[in-house]
Amino acid sequence: MLDMLDGSGRGADAIADLWWVMFWLSLIPTVIVLGMLVVILLRRRRQGDGEDPPAAAPLEHERGERRIILLGGVALPLVLLLPVVAMVIATAHARERTDVEAMEIGVTGHRFWWDLRYPAPGNERLDQGETFRTANELHIPVGRPVDLVVESEDVIHSIWIPRLDGKIDLTPGRTKRLRIEATEPGVHTGRCAEFCGASHALMRLRVVAHPQEEFEAWLEREAGPVATEPDEGMRMAFGDSCAPCHDLRGVWEAGTFRGNLGPDLTHLASRRTIAAGILPNTREALGRWIIDPQRVKPDNNMPANIAPDGGELADIVDFLEELE
Ligand code: CUA
Repeated sequence: MLDMLDGSGRGADAIADLWWVMFWLSLIPTVIVLGMLVVILLRRRRQGDGEDPPAAAPLEHERGERRIILLGGVALPLVLLLPVVAMVIATAHARERTDVEAMEIGVTGHRFWWDLRYPAPGNERLDQGETFRTANELHIPVGRPVDLVVESEDVIHSIWIPRLDGKIDLTPGRTKRLRIEATEPGVHTGRCAEFCGASHALMRLRVVAHPQEEFEAWLEREAGPVATEPDEGMRMAFGDSCAPCHDLRGVWEAGTFRGNLGPDLTHLASRRTIAAGILPNTREALGRWIIDPQRVKPDNNMPANIAPDGGELADIVDFLEELE
C-alpha cells in the first residue's frame, strides 16, 4: 500500500517528497493542539473537581480569545499552507520534463481490463501511422517520458501505477494524457482506482520498465504476427469461440471479426499474468478462466463457452501456450 512512497518513477519521487513535507508540517498543528489539551486537563485537575476556574476580567478575556483566533485560525494556517501550495505547483512542473519528446501509448479502459495500443516500431506517436494492440501488460522504456493517452470504452475508470506516478481518470468520450517516466528497470503493479463495477478490484495492470535496448527488442517482437499459425481444426475452434472478441494478428484477414471486444491474444504466452493481472499465466489458470470466467471475475463480458470436459478446451489451451 505504501508503494507510492517507494517510487521508481520521476512523478512518484516528486509526489513522495511532497507527501513527506505535508506529513511533517501537519505534525506542527497536531502537536500544538494536543499540547493545549494536555495543559487544560492538567489545570482542571489542579483546580480540583467541579470547581470553576476564577473568571478573568471580561475585557482581558475577549482580547485573549481574539489573539487565539488570529494566531491559530489565520497566521498558523497561512505559514503552514503557503509553502505547501508553492510545493504543489513546483511538483506538478517537476513531474514533467520537456527536453525529450515523449512516446505515446494508448490506454483504453474496459470492464475490467486494459487495452493498450503502441505506435509501430520506429514511430513515437499514435497518429504517425500503423499501430498495434496488446493488453494488460504495459511495457515502457526506462529514462524516457511516456504519454499514456487514455480513454474509456464504457464507464469511468482510473489508472494508477503508484510506483510511477499519480492517477488519471479514463472518461468515456474524452481523451486525456498522463505522462509517466520510469527511472529504473522493474516490474510494477497498476490498478483501477475508480469504482467501475463488480470486478473493479480485479482490474489490474502489470507494468514492465525495460532498459531502452531491451524495450526496443520487446516492441519489435510484440508488433509481429502470431508465432504459431493455427491448423485447420484450431482455426475452426478459435474462429467459433474466441476470434469474434479476441484478435490474433496475422491469422484472419482484417475485418473478418471486430476482434477488439476482448484483449488481443497475439502474444498471450509471453505475458506474466492473464485476466488483467489477477491470475498467473499457467495452464491451470488458462483452463479455469476459459471454463468459467464469471466465477473468476464477476460481471466481465466473457461468457463461459466451452464444455468443461471437452477435448477442445485442452486443444485451445495448448494453442494459447504457443503464442509467444
Ligand atoms: Cu475499472 Cu475500477
